[in-house]
Amino acid sequence: MNRIHNFSAGPAVLPVPVLEAAKQASIEYNGCGMSVMEMSHRSKEIVSLFDETSANVLELMNLSSDDYTVLYLGGGASMQFAMIPLNFMKTSADYINTGVWAKKALAEGKLVGNVNVAASSADKNFNYIPKEFNFDPKADYVHYTTNNTIYGTRVKDIPNVGDVPLICDMSSDLLSRNMDYSKFDLIYAGAQKNIGPSGVTLVVIKKSWAAKAEKEGNMTMLKYSTHIGADSMFNTPAVFPVFVINETLKWIKSEGGLDAVEKRNDHKAGLLYDAIDNSNSFYKAAVANKDDRSTMNVTFNLESEEKESEFIKKAEALNMSGLKGHRSVGGVRASIYNACPVESVELLVKFMNDFRS
Ligand SMILES: Cc1ncc(COP(=O)(O)O)c(C=O)c1O
Repeated sequence: MNRIHNFSAGPAVLPVPVLEAAKQASIEYNGCGMSVMEMSHRSKEIVSLFDETSANVLELMNLSSDDYTVLYLGGGASMQFAMIPLNFMKTSADYINTGVWAKKALAEGKLVGNVNVAASSADKNFNYIPKEFNFDPKADYVHYTTNNTIYGTRVKDIPNVGDVPLICDMSSDLLSRNMDYSKFDLIYAGAQKNIGPSGVTLVVIKKSWAAKAEKEGNMTMLKYSTHIGADSMFNTPAVFPVFVINETLKWIKSEGGLDAVEKRNDHKAGLLYDAIDNSNSFYKAAVANKDDRSTMNVTFNLESEEKESEFIKKAEALNMSGLKGHRSVGGVRASIYNACPVESVELLVKFMNDFRS
């Protein structure tokens, strides 16, 4: 096996045992004599795969299936930007603007109703998390993005929104840490960063709120109620990606659950931020405030674009890939999701120190 050190922002590194299980299931699944990709989504094996995956999601989030339901939808996290206002915005909603993805979400909201930007970090090219929020107590919901993949910021603490329903895009840090998931009415994430391959979006939705919030006139496929009523099988769902998600959830559990994964993520991020902060400004952290720093996407700059290109090229020669910053901000970005091994981060830190000297 010749696997490189993958620091890609997504699709991203997956755990080797998960890939091994996917390899096996690509040929023959559960003694069924065929691949998981060749089976009817209505077969009892696949229905039970979906049930098991949902039970694992809720268990890891410490949520009850009496209160929450899990959906597997198409269209990426980007489809959720549209479905959320189409289903839940009656008059106006609050959005926190912390970057490109948050902005895309609020742009869809504006196509449906009034958007109140409750806080924004656009003034400093999104290199920090706002601390003051101008929430409207009458808003239909509050939407924010936990982890800003491009800039390397994250909202550490869940904002206090009172009784207003809370929606969160967790695409780039889903299940990377323990938090009070019961504070959310809807959580969504494209699978392709922390929990699986691209092709499916995980949605965790509070049943009581979903039942109340239907709006007239929506297209069938754009209603949450359609997918809840059909257990995510109104259309043919992405069975193989769901299989991989379930294997990833089982892997998270075998690693000790979210507390253990969070501890390792903090450790990995700490190694990189220490290398940056102790480099005599050779490396400059893109995010100055330590509390705002992502543990998933570590972003930094060197003195010039030329130096950054040289850094990335030399890292590639040492089998470290995916370190180029997003095209909109440049610089270097190391994405170190759950499945990124500590050894990959240690190697990167060693290379950073060698390159500097
Ligand atoms: C935080 C965040 N939200 C949304 C998206 C868009 O996801 P998708 O490509 O699944 O629509 C991304 C993609 O990188 C992201 O990082």
